[in-house]
Amino acid sequence: MKRILVVANWKMNLNTHEASTLLHRYHQHIATHRDIEVVVAPSLLSLQPLSVEMDRHRFRLASQDAYFKDEGSYTGEVSFAMLRDLVHYGIVGHSARRVYFGETLEVIREKVAAAVRNGITPILCIGETKQERDAGETKQVIHDHLTTALKNITSDEIENIVIAYEPIWAISTFDGEPAKPSDMQKAIEYIRFQIKELYGERAAKAVRVLYGGSVSDDDASVFLGIPGCDGVLVGAASLNYAKFTGIVDAAYRLARERRPS
Ligand code: PGA
Repeated sequence: MKRILVVANWKMNLNTHEASTLLHRYHQHIATHRDIEVVVAPSLLSLQPLSVEMDRHRFRLASQDAYFKDEGSYTGEVSFAMLRDLVHYGIVGHSARRVYFGETLEVIREKVAAAVRNGITPILCIGETKQERDAGETKQVIHDHLTTALKNITSDEIENIVIAYEPIWAISTFDGEPAKPSDMQKAIEYIRFQIKELYGERAAKAVRVLYGGSVSDDDASVFLGIPGCDGVLVGAASLNYAKFTGIVDAAYRLARERRPS
């Protein structure tokens, strides 16, 4: 049984003190669970202090982004090589990176490769804009994002990659339009189909696929319950202690239902 992955993407919120306070509150409620993995992606600045404060049996750390070169004269950047002992996961290609910072699919491909090269599991974010969705291009976008981003990834490496399907129109920062679970299921099935085309049946089953976009405590069980969905990537609701622990509780309930007694 795959562990259910619940990822908190704090984005550019919380200074180090606030991040530490929120983590402390997470600790009060979130217990170790054999079937659930809770991942926290704070700002780059908070990674180091949180890594010391964090109970590593209960939580794992993720970076929100990093540069694809390992070292050099790239003023302002931090590389995956520098993060390798600090984080387990690295979010790559988040739509905010694509929309606000002009990150191209080619850059995302380099970042996926850099994460893997440095022993960090990429959480590759893919998903279409509202305009693309309205034009009926969702499948094409999923296809293009996956084939480009995974170009340098071998069949041995693919099983360790996490793909987060985050339609841009459903993310709270953008339109935050409610996503229909049946549509999300189709998109997730299509992602696995593409992985099967590229790497075969085994990889398609093994790869973890998450849903992300305005997930909150009141609908987490619906998204977590989508067949083929291995977890959720949570933005805004992860900054709210009660909402986020509500999402983790939904994952606990699902794990209990799934595990044969
Ligand atoms: P949201 O963010 O939950 O606030 O929509 C998700 C994300 O951008 O990863």
